[in-house]
Amino acid sequence: MKRPTKLKKILIIDFGSQFTQLIARRIREIGVFSEIVSHKGLNKLDQKELFGVILSGGPLNVYQDKKIKFDKNIFNFTCPILGICFGHQMISKFYGGKVKSSKTREFGFASIKKIKNSLLTKNFFNKKNTNDVWMSHADHVTKIPRNFKKIASTKDSKFTIIENFKLKRFGVQFHPEVTHTIKGKILLKNFVFKICKAKKNWSPQHQKNTLINNVKNQVGKKKVICALSGGVDSSVVAQLLNKSIGKQLKCIFVNTGLLRKNEEKQVIKTFKKKLRIDLIYINAEKQFLKKLKNVSDPERKRKIIGNLFIKIFEKYAKKIKNVEFLAQGTLYPDLIESKSVTGSQTSKIKSHHNVGGLPKKMKLKLVEPLRLLFKDEVRKLGLELKLSKQIISRHPFPGPGLAIRMPGTITKEKIKILKEADDYFISELKKENLYDKIWQAYAALLPVKTVGVMGDNRTYEYICLLRAITSSDGMTADYFDFTKKFMQNVSNKIINNIQGINRVVYDVTSKPPSTIELE
Ligand code: XMP
Repeated sequence: MKRPTKLKKILIIDFGSQFTQLIARRIREIGVFSEIVSHKGLNKLDQKELFGVILSGGPLNVYQDKKIKFDKNIFNFTCPILGICFGHQMISKFYGGKVKSSKTREFGFASIKKIKNSLLTKNFFNKKNTNDVWMSHADHVTKIPRNFKKIASTKDSKFTIIENFKLKRFGVQFHPEVTHTIKGKILLKNFVFKICKAKKNWSPQHQKNTLINNVKNQVGKKKVICALSGGVDSSVVAQLLNKSIGKQLKCIFVNTGLLRKNEEKQVIKTFKKKLRIDLIYINAEKQFLKKLKNVSDPERKRKIIGNLFIKIFEKYAKKIKNVEFLAQGTLYPDLIESKSVTGSQTSKIKSHHNVGGLPKKMKLKLVEPLRLLFKDEVRKLGLELKLSKQIISRHPFPGPGLAIRMPGTITKEKIKILKEADDYFISELKKENLYDKIWQAYAALLPVKTVGVMGDNRTYEYICLLRAITSSDGMTADYFDFTKKFMQNVSNKIINNIQGINRVVYDVTSKPPSTIELE
């Protein structure tokens, strides 16, 4: 197996800041490859692969030497280094400055004032030589190292931007990576292009070519299977592999019977007919319904669906001869260690079922071509690979499908009602140009019947719950604020057209305290 092509990059050393991923995204947005490594994992760094280094912020104090297991050898590198917040304090301390806990914490906006010209801040300040920046720190630099210059300051921190131009060391106390910092991206661009002299090497087209080559090198002449769900990630993986290895790819698509209306037809039409991918379609509707009969516990539903999915997938995968690889849509955020520097971990709320990552027992090697990409990059790559906008901009859909949008027991009748209701809701969102403004939307069917009146008759039917949220990553979410007219229209359409629903409610909870799905 050949080694994947290595791209020269801006390396981001993570000290546990909540904004570290944002730094990487900003650098990539300006067209240069960037990667994040933990401050504990600097052993195999090759300076030749780096345009420059950024030290992130973090919750520690620079004097907590035992906790900061950080190879200070990085400061012997000749490439430029920019410290942000905690990183700025690290640079100051390392070169002989002083850092102290401030009397007043600076959190939120601060007005910064220019003191000296710098290449780092070219076009960063306004005409009055000030700018609004976003701060989030308790400690601050009280004395800068010898041979460093003060470039800018705020009322509460004297050394907000510092530099030693000869050494190519720079520090900023604020966060240029967050959108609240005005012209933060200009400062990062100055660092990347003017100071590190980086060349643009990261665009959807670059990614496409590099990833296609990498897959070819990794797979050679061997066969790859891919579990296709019709979602964005697995669709992009399938198409990327299709472009890289063509006939050596075999996709398996399992219809659980819990998909959105007409989803299986769309997947077959796109992947089998249009893209000519070798697709095995398995209609396992009956099997799933049988196993789920009378099951109402959310975790049991999830486990049953996950396990049956593996069983079916394995059965068909084994029939394909000489398969050596399994393709998965793992993304970059999945790989970055979720544990923060302080060791805190989030607790398990729900056991997620994902089509990727399941058949561990099959001893297949993994192909994870999207492992270096963020979700928005995957979408752009998908467009570059000529996947339709309709596939690329689809809202996320959970592995267990409609089963977790139907609290209580699952029946064929309920699935039919729910598919219709969801389809009416989503169609209206598209018609009113709201679909792309919403991160995820769906209809659910509540296991309660209530009384209604239609014409002169009494009805006794289910409640349909609508959920639409805005979010950036699904970790937190807020409900979408529809107009009364839109809500009324959707509610009327659902009730007038679907037998079995006589009441529509809208979920106005955020996440937390609720989750996006109902189960
Ligand atoms: P929650 O309900 O945890 O959902 O707030 C967050 C996001 O994850 C999706 N989700 C899943 N995706 N398998 C998946 O592939 C799952 O088991 C699963 N459960 C929830 C959910 O749709 C939302 O986008």
